Amino acid sequence: MKIAIGSDHAGLELKEYIKRILAEGNHEVADYGTNSPQSVDYPDYGFKVAGDVAAGKADRGILVCGTGMGMNVVANKVKGIRAALAFDTYTAVQSRKHLDANVLVLGERVTGKGLAEEIVKSWLEAKFEGGRHSGRIAKIEAFEKSTDR
Ligand code: RB5
Repeated sequence: MKIAIGSDHAGLELKEYIKRILAEGNHEVADYGTNSPQSVDYPDYGFKVAGDVAAGKADRGILVCGTGMGMNVVANKVKGIRAALAFDTYTAVQSRKHLDANVLVLGERVTGKGLAEEIVKSWLEAKFEGGRHSGRIAKIEAFEKSTDR
């Protein structure tokens, strides 16, 4: 799977850790930065990752900031993105099964590396269940389309 990954300074360490996990799992990883501990603005990285996932340039996206809140708001502003901010594996898996989430968001200041690893792995493995959930996503997409200018 091709995975676009990005963070701000507060998510850098966890981003680097997740990159290693993804590489070990034979995923193709595109790193959108940031790549230094210098303070940056999470929207600059979140919009790039979410934009490329929405454009089909990556299969999935993973975003990390301090709490995950900022990146989650940013990613969900992008049409076609269904981003899941997950602090536990159950939520992460449900976000795939019911929402077909295409971006996973983590908070480095909240979630430790061991749990983050389990969240990432379970999120990547879980499959969308379709059925009644497809109709709900269709309603989200119809709303997005209605806001086109
Ligand atoms: C950066 O200090 C912090 O505000 C950011 O990483 C994130 O937690 C925002 O939601």
